[in-house]
Amino acid sequence: MADKIVLAYSGGLDTSVAIPWLKDKGYEVIAVSLDVGQHGKQIENIQKKALKIGAIQSFIIDGKDEFAENYVSKVIKSNALYEGEYPLVSALSRPLIIEKLVQTTHDNNAVAIAHGSTGKGNDQVRFEAAIHALDPEMKIEAPIRDFQWSREEEIEYAHQHNVPVPINFDSPYSIDENLWGRSNEAGILENPWNQAPADAYALTSPVEDTPDEADFVDIEFKNGLPISVNDQEMKMADLIVYLNKLAGIHGIGRIDHVENRLIGIKSREIYETPAAAVIMTAHKDLEDITLEHDVAHFKPIIEQKITNLIYNAMWISPLFDALNKFIDETQKVVNGTVKMKLYKGTATAVARKSENNSLYSEKLATYTSANSFDEQAAVGFMKLYTLPATVYEQVNHIHSKEKEEI
Ligand code: ARG
Repeated sequence: MADKIVLAYSGGLDTSVAIPWLKDKGYEVIAVSLDVGQHGKQIENIQKKALKIGAIQSFIIDGKDEFAENYVSKVIKSNALYEGEYPLVSALSRPLIIEKLVQTTHDNNAVAIAHGSTGKGNDQVRFEAAIHALDPEMKIEAPIRDFQWSREEEIEYAHQHNVPVPINFDSPYSIDENLWGRSNEAGILENPWNQAPADAYALTSPVEDTPDEADFVDIEFKNGLPISVNDQEMKMADLIVYLNKLAGIHGIGRIDHVENRLIGIKSREIYETPAAAVIMTAHKDLEDITLEHDVAHFKPIIEQKITNLIYNAMWISPLFDALNKFIDETQKVVNGTVKMKLYKGTATAVARKSENNSLYSEKLATYTSANSFDEQAAVGFMKLYTLPATVYEQVNHIHSKEKEEI
């Protein structure tokens, strides 16, 4: 009996051509497609297509809720933006995809996993790091990395093996999508001086076409995660889909980013993350009134480390787990509602409240007679606060002149 291999199958040409290629290598191919909320993809057609091309089995696994609740949630709570811009859309789905693939491999007595990454990207690292961590014995095949084919050769091979070549195969872009957004690279985007053409975008309107009326949405958070929009409770996956649509209409969440890849090169990517832009801006704003001063100033250090661990394929690592425990501890008080204005490409927090956890005290902040701040206490504070620097200056006179001796 032939060895079985589980293939991460997207339905695109690369992973379709991988089916006969793996069969030629002597494997029986089990195709697995994870539904992480790819926009507008007919997931059932993908399942059928794999069987038609020659997979012995084809599974669709619905990972949307798990993705939202266990993966996207970590990005929201830790305000994770790689290099200050990219909310980790693609990086985030990889560990979940691998978890499901490894499970399918075990359930079906398969000996290997195949993924469709190229040899130049971060995704191969994320896939293979996760496979090694979950099952170090597992064999890995990376057909696209190994083909070394030109586009023409790939199409030729597809024709010879009855793999349908999509009509839009001319599409110069390499696209990866899930609930949390869309990543688009390659083609004309490879030259960073080229402005991204209109067809590089799919989830967001160009700002010229956005409504002249703003939309306002109240986003309620519990323990740092969004639970309702305009008082309507929704599970997180649905809330993200809802906001992607609404914020997309307002042209929100377009990111044009030249980033540093883990494997050493710089790459230019166009991201669309409408819901992420709204939710993450609102979340940060709510933290501004609920996190204590020292926590608020220290948390970004941890956030940055978490962000880089996710980007750099270390989802499965003790450091990542430990840092998330810290983040979770901080989020206990991040409860309340933020009013977001969606208008002409921007999501802005315009009001916020927290019934039980707001540390903002109007009594302390006000300049009116309602003031309860002891201003006289400030006088002594200034003397003691600056004492070490004052002594240093008096001794060394870096900024001041020594008094002339009389
Ligand atoms: N550069 C992004 C990352 O490393 C996205 C990778 C996938 N992008 C794509 N367009 N296929 O996370």
